[in-house]
Amino acid sequence: MLTERPSASSRDYHLNLLDLRQVGIDPNFWYPVTNIDKLKRRNVLAVSFAGQPIVVARTKNGRIFALEDRCVHRQMPLHKGVLRGEGIQCAYHGWCYDIRGKLVNIPYLSDTEMIPAQARRVRYYSCREAYGLVFVFPGTPEKADTVSLPDLPEFSSPQYRTMYFERTVECHYSFMHENLMDMTHQFLHRQLMSSIQPVLLGYRSGPNWVEAQYKVEGGKPHAGANLMTFGGKDAAVIDRNYELMTIKTDYPNQELIVYRAHSETPAIRLWTSYVSLDAEQRRHRSFGLLMIRKPRIPGLIYLAWPVIRYFAESIFAQDRAAVEEEQRAYDVQGADRNCEISPVLLELRRILVSCGVPITHASKPSALSSLAGATSEPANGYRFAGPSLDSKR
Ligand code: FES
Ligand SMILES: [Fe+2]
Repeated sequence: MLTERPSASSRDYHLNLLDLRQVGIDPNFWYPVTNIDKLKRRNVLAVSFAGQPIVVARTKNGRIFALEDRCVHRQMPLHKGVLRGEGIQCAYHGWCYDIRGKLVNIPYLSDTEMIPAQARRVRYYSCREAYGLVFVFPGTPEKADTVSLPDLPEFSSPQYRTMYFERTVECHYSFMHENLMDMTHQFLHRQLMSSIQPVLLGYRSGPNWVEAQYKVEGGKPHAGANLMTFGGKDAAVIDRNYELMTIKTDYPNQELIVYRAHSETPAIRLWTSYVSLDAEQRRHRSFGLLMIRKPRIPGLIYLAWPVIRYFAESIFAQDRAAVEEEQRAYDVQGADRNCEISPVLLELRRILVSCGVPITHASKPSALSSLAGATSEPANGYRFAGPSLDSKR
């Protein structure tokens, strides 16, 4: 059990906070952008991160790559193009890029013409496949190898089955962190969770994380809630006689773990990531992996699956309606007029501000160089408006 209690100073954090809703998400982490199954079906997908258009694709040989989603020539989105060998060809004039974003061919250039030096590449994003998701690293490319993907051992454990969620939600990502961390909002779910009331036992935090523990008591929750944690019963070995819930924001992701009474083994572990889509960061894509411990009775998890899914979707729908209302209210009122009283939430808000980055409202293309800049005077009298020519690559 966590024993640290709120300090007086934590209650004062809000006095010094920037407007949390104006804080951008730090791009120097791995972010999921799609379920891998979607890429199997379509091979080329348009995604985005905080206003950066990104194309994710899978080559014939199964290699996944991610590039800036705009052709260096005339900004045609590359996701409209076609896969060509181990690369992609723009739909408009057919310029070809390899999986590292290097422009490798302009089909109508003669043998004597060269690819312009200014147009040699589009931005390349490091890209990985894990937990059934495609992750990209939208930050400083050199940092990609120094940052780890999340560690989710339950995902590959035969004792767990994973339910996958992915939704666009019309709000700043911080509303989602607050929503999950804040177990005092069970009133919102009263029809599904009855009078269940989690009690905060304590919380702890570090420079980029905060974790709260709740004791879960009371109520007669929906059958889906009971089935969701049913498998955790089989791992009962310790004295604690109540259900324990821990919620942690480990920037930029979040997770919720539920332990049944007398158990130290997670009955469920929910991992979530909130990925800003637009440059203003007023919309995001919520990704969730709900890892559910299987009951010992063979096949029961499969029978229970639709009921669990219904329950989880219903809870999410209520949360989504609430956070989208919060965003609308923020937009109408023009400021974060938050009057938070929970010490955990105040700590969470402090961490989201301190780990965030300024929102930049323009996504600057990395590779757009005007072709109209340089000129030369050819012998035939026609003016050639184009870049200085360089070696063909
Ligand atoms: S816009 Fe892509 S090849 Fe012309
Ligand atoms: Fe909720």
